[in-house]
Amino acid sequence: MSEKDTELRVSKIRNGTVIDHVAAGEALHVLAILGIDGSGGESVSLGMNVPSEKMGLKDIVKVEGREMSETELDVLSLIAPRATVNIVRDYAVVEKTELEAPDEVVGLLRCPNRHCITNAGEPVETRFDVIPDGVRCAYCDTIVRESITDRLAV
Ligand code: CTP
Ligand code: ZN
Repeated sequence: MSEKDTELRVSKIRNGTVIDHVAAGEALHVLAILGIDGSGGESVSLGMNVPSEKMGLKDIVKVEGREMSETELDVLSLIAPRATVNIVRDYAVVEKTELEAPDEVVGLLRCPNRHCITNAGEPVETRFDVIPDGVRCAYCDTIVRESITDRLAV
């Protein structure tokens, strides 16, 4: 069966965002990053571990009635660096963005080190360098590998 055939399992949306080519198993992290837990009333469809020609298996997330901000895309690119973000209006894909892992993340994450200058009440924006398996605080070198979503300052 081709990728197209299997995707018929998740129906098309009318207006909103389709986050495609998410690494298999990461769909729930994508929802966490977008702050979607069902309480906002959005219609959300998920495909998890669906066959993909490009990736073997992939996850796909469709959110009805919601488009993504630049900030949300920046954070998303950290956990889904190969994802394609499709903006859908009136059933048509009107915009397609291929995410790429950023070199640095400014102002989005909180440093877990409470002695870090960015936690001292000073007017210093957080700044993390992206490393292969996580992010590193540019001020105190603390490395965050897991739970990046817990560190969101937004
Ligand atoms: N999609 C959707 N609802 C729509 C339009 C598109 O859910 N009204 C989904 C499609 O199912 C697909 C994704 O959005 O998963 C991208 O759609 P499209 O660009 O038409 O598909 P492809 O050309 O296969 O995308 P790509 O080249 O990025 O793999
Ligand atoms: Zn720090």
